Amino acid sequence: MNVLIIGSGGREHALAWKLSQSKDVDRLFCVPGNGGISDVAECHDLNVSDTAGLIDFVRRMKIDLVVVGPENPLAGGIVDAFEEKGIPIFGPVARGANIEASKIFSKELMKASGVPTAPFQIFDDYSKAIAFIEKKEPPFVIKADGLCAGKGAYVIRDMEEAKGVLHNLMVGEIYGSAGKRTVIEDFLPGIEASYLAFADGETILPMPASQDHKPLLDNDLGPNTGGMGAYTPIPFINDAMDRDIRENIMLKTIASMKEMGIPYKGVLYGGLMISQGKPYVIEFNARFGDPETQPIIFKMESDLLPVLVASVEGKLKDIKEIKWREGVSVCVVMASGGYPERPEKGKIIRGLDQFKSEKDIMVFHAGTRKAGNEYFTSGGRVLGVTAIGADYEDAIRKAYDAVKKISFEGMQYRKDIGRKATII
Ligand SMILES: Nc1ncnc2c1ncn2[C@@H]1O[C@H](COP(=O)(O)OP(=O)(O)O)[C@@H](O)[C@H]1O
Ligand SMILES: [Mg+2]
Repeated sequence: MNVLIIGSGGREHALAWKLSQSKDVDRLFCVPGNGGISDVAECHDLNVSDTAGLIDFVRRMKIDLVVVGPENPLAGGIVDAFEEKGIPIFGPVARGANIEASKIFSKELMKASGVPTAPFQIFDDYSKAIAFIEKKEPPFVIKADGLCAGKGAYVIRDMEEAKGVLHNLMVGEIYGSAGKRTVIEDFLPGIEASYLAFADGETILPMPASQDHKPLLDNDLGPNTGGMGAYTPIPFINDAMDRDIRENIMLKTIASMKEMGIPYKGVLYGGLMISQGKPYVIEFNARFGDPETQPIIFKMESDLLPVLVASVEGKLKDIKEIKWREGVSVCVVMASGGYPERPEKGKIIRGLDQFKSEKDIMVFHAGTRKAGNEYFTSGGRVLGVTAIGADYEDAIRKAYDAVKKISFEGMQYRKDIGRKATII
């Protein structure tokens, strides 16, 4: 089969790396790709939002399967457009991707189907939202309805801040139409987990649960980022809770969408809060997480291709199980100086060639570009240094030993990725 991956991040490098090892993949393409992906796939710098151009490319290259990484093309209906042309594509249709692209759609679906989530109210009127929060005690959470590249959710600690946020979103329209409607919900204390599952419209095949690290600095301080590291599995979801999440959150959500006439295929990603021993959904995403995909896929022993194909064809139940490597997988993100506000670019990256033959270490590329035999930084998050170890201590040590052998000017990374698993 010829396969095309759409995207340019660490998540897409992990998918490309894994698919490049499949015996059934003949040619692997990526649009647009990055420096690391160009070592395992043929990268083409096409415009991802030009659907007609992509369809033309898919036909010329005789591509049999398209795999979509990021949320924006999914929300924009790339799957609908390709399906209309009869091209197999992994990911949900736009109405399914709405579970990520509209917090209001997602909250209403959860409420209607009894999926546990924080109590909430929806507002399209600024003064009504203000009147509502005046009767509320912080902490609470204000969220823009639409896609805001991870910047549209605000945990509110004081009233003045809340008013400013509502004004910026609903009146100032800092995120355009994405923030004109808002969700205001109760704050749930607890510990966050990412629960990713392959879906085929009917059933699901879960991946091991993982945990992201959003804030830039150690101990969850500093501004939020796209994610500074992740690890899998996590110690605070036992088998009983896993079953509960699978049945009462993931399958229920897929079933509700099916009832609405939405065949949800691709990855369903539950962003969970484990609060007082019970899982609640903070949000859903309609795609693989980044950076969670890096440690998850590095741990995957089975071939990824048949799982993607079964998901597209509605045949996931034919796949008995996915085999995972034993142990713990940890991914430490190395980011550029100035990230997240103004990441520096164009710095040479040193030390990458030492890991090529290491079975337990893989350096996934995100914002990198290859020129000749050298790699240069080209974005905020640069690398996801991923290691597998026998336990948390071992995996963390291996990941950081590898990080210390890599360098580029201005680099920053958290020193505590995976630590939460060792103190619980
Ligand atoms: N109800 C809530 N209770 C506690 N924390 C929350 C709640 N909703 C969101 N958060 C925090 O805000 C972060 C971002 O919210 P989320 O809904 O995931 O939005 P997005 O990822 O689209 O920015 C979450 O990862 C979590 O840390
Ligand atoms: Mg989130």
